[in-house]
Amino acid sequence: MRVPWGRRAAPAPCRSLKTKGPGHAGQRQRQRKPGPAAKPDPRPDPRSGPQASTRPETPGLVKGYLDTVRDIMRMPLTTADASAPSARVTAEHCAAHCTQPPRNVTMLARDFICDSLYNPAYGYFSRQALIFSPRTGYDFPRFRDSAEFLKVMGQQYDEVERELDDVRSIPRQLWHTPTEILKPWYGYAVARHIVQQHKADRAAGAHADPLVIYEVGGGNGTLMLNILDYVREHEPEIYAHAEYNLVEISPKLARQQLSRQAGGASSPHANIKIVNRSILDWTARVDGACFVVAMEVIDNLAHDVVRYGFETGEPYQAVVRVHGDGEFEELYEPATDPLVAEYLQARAALADPPYRSPALPSALYRRARSLLPLAPNMTEAEFIPTHAFRFMQILGRCFPRHRLVLSDFYRLPDTIPGPVDAPVVQTRFDGSMVPCETYLVQPGWFDIFFPTNFELLQRLYDRVRPAGAPRSRVCSQREFALANADLPRTATRSGENPMLDFYENNKFLLS
Ligand SMILES: C[S@@+](CC[C@H](N)C(=O)[O-])C[C@H]1O[C@@H](n2cnc3c(N)ncnc32)[C@H](O)[C@@H]1O
Repeated sequence: MRVPWGRRAAPAPCRSLKTKGPGHAGQRQRQRKPGPAAKPDPRPDPRSGPQASTRPETPGLVKGYLDTVRDIMRMPLTTADASAPSARVTAEHCAAHCTQPPRNVTMLARDFICDSLYNPAYGYFSRQALIFSPRTGYDFPRFRDSAEFLKVMGQQYDEVERELDDVRSIPRQLWHTPTEILKPWYGYAVARHIVQQHKADRAAGAHADPLVIYEVGGGNGTLMLNILDYVREHEPEIYAHAEYNLVEISPKLARQQLSRQAGGASSPHANIKIVNRSILDWTARVDGACFVVAMEVIDNLAHDVVRYGFETGEPYQAVVRVHGDGEFEELYEPATDPLVAEYLQARAALADPPYRSPALPSALYRRARSLLPLAPNMTEAEFIPTHAFRFMQILGRCFPRHRLVLSDFYRLPDTIPGPVDAPVVQTRFDGSMVPCETYLVQPGWFDIFFPTNFELLQRLYDRVRPAGAPRSRVCSQREFALANADLPRTATRSGENPMLDFYENNKFLLS
């Protein structure tokens, strides 16, 4: 049984670079790659059992050696003029000055990804992104079993997709999220968790503040309405003083959230404030107790790419060079970017147990490997969640008394092969999702989204919170649903329950 899942994008010319295997500092790796051709199954099954971890195991000596030889044999020829001038730019610069993806520039991998996803003129999020939303919530007890539910939902999803396919001139993408597929029950479960925690904090004398919620990345605004509907119905006294803030980067989605606030199916909620801004630009300090909710937001937050010097273990950060002809090239330089350095330092400071990157083999292995001919001078690449880390820092600095409800993917199928914690890069082509093998693709046409190492994120999150902040924990989607969901209302007649069984590759970080 399969459920539509993931993000969808229209076809685009795919000029990409393959950067697999060990590289060399300053070495140019470049390759033309045809546009998407294969048609993989676009519908990974969120109910399936555990899949392979996104973290490759440290390769054996022989495998590492053979990989290096293979990569050198495949090393592509470069046609670009390496001496052409290339200005160093950031995603902020491109957002302010570029209406087309820039050429003859160099930027950090993080800036390249951020620009591809978020540039106001051509970024993936700024285009016609749609989140699939069934007209009304599904009446689960009416379905015989999960298969019947999936069939009905799949048909509706396909219908919407077909409509989008008819409009070929505009890039259209369709996502779906547990908030939408399981509405209103998913939002009610989140609301129940929040209300219980709020009441427990007040009962324990932790504070006497009203309920204040900051949701980051509200999509269609469905979670906001479902949470507020639940609080209004079940906790009218709390609702009377409650305040809901939505921080949304997309102007289009912020407008949609605003219109749903005013004219939703239920009577409107007057206690909502919508802020059209990236959470990464948030600077105001919120001193009161509050909840921060972020569902399926951090998977799109930009990452940096690092490799480590094979002999020394020193980190190198990736920069992307965009040539005049639109070709991309990945280069490595010492990791001097302040955010990259800060992230690596915070991670290196973790103790009991210390964290060692899966991309960095042991010193013994590296010494042995370097005795063989064709020894690489850099390790495998690793994607590091620098913007998710900045988000955690903002939470610690600007929301010192918050509690967090964050959910996202902890593993994904079809990630780009090779690097540690690599993203899925995919586009829609001829009605199918096509995964790519690199993130160096035409900006704006591809979804780039990452699995989150929740256990590592939790440790970093705990480091940036003020002393004495409530303990945090990680739990699975199933555990969260068991604790908070109205399970009889989401069970099918066979007893199968999508709230428990679907989105099995999601986890929660709660504090
Ligand atoms: C995949 S959608 C999820 C929407 C909704 N939370 C749900 O679960 O249905 C991601 C949402 O996060 C928003 N978003 C992405 N990056 C953001 C950022 N840096 N600041 C605020 N919102 C962001 C997107 O515009 C979108 O609304």
